[in-house]
Order: sequence, then C-alpha cells, then structure tokens
Amino acid sequence: MTTTNDVSTEQHPSGDDRFALVDKHLKRVRYEQDQLIETLHVAQDVFGYLSEDVLMYVARALMLPPSMVYGVATFYQLFTFEAPGDHACTVCTGTACYVKGADAIVGSVAEAYAVAAGATSEDGRLTLKIARCLGSCGLAPVVVLDGAVHGHLDAAEALDLVRAALGETVG
Ligand code: FES
Repeated sequence: MTTTNDVSTEQHPSGDDRFALVDKHLKRVRYEQDQLIETLHVAQDVFGYLSEDVLMYVARALMLPPSMVYGVATFYQLFTFEAPGDHACTVCTGTACYVKGADAIVGSVAEAYAVAAGATSEDGRLTLKIARCLGSCGLAPVVVLDGAVHGHLDAAEALDLVRAALGETVG
C-alpha cells in the first residue's frame, strides 16, 4: 500500500540524486517521526548542510510541521544551514587551546579572509569554524584543516597552512 508520505518514488523537482540517498534512509526507518534527528544527520551527511529545501523535504516525508523540523534542527548545534566553503578550517577554542593562543589563530584567519567564525568567506573558498575541545589537548592549540589535524601552531603558522590549502603562495 502506498502511504501519503512515501516520497521515494517521486523525482525531486531539483533532479538532485542525493535525495535518493535520503529516501533510502527514510524507507529503512519506515518514515517514523521519532527518526527526525537521525534523518537530519543523514541529510546533512549527504548534502553537507541543511538547506531550506532539504528541511522541507524531510518535514514532508515524515509528515511533520516544517516549524517543528526547523525548531529541532536549530536547537542542536550539530546542524549547519549554510553551504560549506571549498575548504574548512576548524579552530579548537577549548580551554587548553584557548590558553595557548587559539583566539589569535581565529583572529588572524578571520581577518585574512574577511570571514566571521562560524561563517563562509564571500568567495566561498573558506569556512571558518570554532569547536570545543577536540580531545587532543596535548597538541594545543589544535586546528583541523580539511580534515587533517595540526597541533602546536601559532597564528602565523596556522595562517600559512590555510593559505597553502587554498593554493596561495606562502612567503
Ligand atoms: S581544548 Fe583543544 S583539543 Fe582540548
């Protein structure tokens, strides 16, 4: 029997095949409404972030009010609503990293690329994030750049790493 919330056989208007991956998960959890958070995780993994379109899609599939889906998604800091940049720089600002100069790293990268912490530069090349303790306090201050962990950096070294990752000449 086809249920009204079974969106898996419909082609998404955007023609974006990634929705098929979300559909697969939705089918696996039988469109259970209590699977909302898990579904949002899957959607974020698939798309890299939760766009309005994706949030609406999940709301419709689980037959939940969009306002509730927005509310849950924004409550949890694990979700992001902006398209990530080409490169991601996460600076740990946990206590150990903070006392070893994490703030200066955030400040230098933010200034060099005119990007606020938690945002993506206007040209879309760099997303700057801050994190709480990443569990590697012995390496403080810690920077994760495009998935690679770097430790014991000062602000200038961190900025050089970012520049190199973005293909810029490091002097
Ligand atoms: S405080 Fe930065 S890794 Fe623990």
